[in-house]
Amino acid sequence: MDMRPIGVFDSGLGGLTAVRALRQILPEEHLIYFGDTARVPYGGRSKETLLKYARQDVHFLRSFDLKAIVIACGTVSTTSLSTLQKENDLPIVGVVEPTCRRALSVTNHKKVGIIATLASIRSGAYEATLRRLDPEVEVMGKPCPLFVPLVESGRIHRGDVVIETVAREYLEPLKSAGIDTLILGCTHYPLLTDIISDICGPGVSLVSAGEESAFELKRLLKAGELRAEEHSPGGAEFYVSDRVEDFERIASVFLGEDLHHAARRIDIDQY
Ligand code: DGL
Repeated sequence: MDMRPIGVFDSGLGGLTAVRALRQILPEEHLIYFGDTARVPYGGRSKETLLKYARQDVHFLRSFDLKAIVIACGTVSTTSLSTLQKENDLPIVGVVEPTCRRALSVTNHKKVGIIATLASIRSGAYEATLRRLDPEVEVMGKPCPLFVPLVESGRIHRGDVVIETVAREYLEPLKSAGIDTLILGCTHYPLLTDIISDICGPGVSLVSAGEESAFELKRLLKAGELRAEEHSPGGAEFYVSDRVEDFERIASVFLGEDLHHAARRIDIDQY
């Protein structure tokens, strides 16, 4: 048994998709969330800049005595996971491998689409992992660079003509190519699930990167005997690197709880 908290980070709101899943499947655990809202979006940046940001994010989280870290960010997972794992003496879970395993378990015709940030698609990490796990799979990747800024501005609801137009433009070519499974390879994208599933239709199964990493962490904690005591209350603390208000507003809607005054601002440049 281990009552230390788990660190979770992303460039902004996206990692809340992992937080929501972690709260459901590991309710007894305590989470420390960091959203790097001063530097979002990460998705168009170089590998070097992403590694620098990711190291600072981990350094801040490690100012707490953590037992594990979830990189609830596709972009950091696709570009910096192995370096962060080598540099840190605690378990670090990324999103790529668990998400690919899940996609392969739900696809009927082995035609898998991936939408993610530019940096993630450029890295080829999702594609390489899918092919390693199943050499017969057909993969089609598409970067969706406008999704993250739109999500961070709260444009996440059905009927919002801007997000719906952008989403159609990105998703229709994938649908026409006949995919039956779509990996939401950036953790911001599940906040757009309604819009994405309306466009893709019932014939396409959606697999969310953030959620799958939560299941991976559960397996890992169990194997290492690192689970918190059963029935302990658990909880979450939220830190961001810029204004707290917008984060709290959208996080409250997404997590279905009142997070007014729940987030604290930190200076990430100090880490
Ligand atoms: N949510 C992150 C991801 O999963 C980062 C998106 C961004 O900041 O561009 O890729």
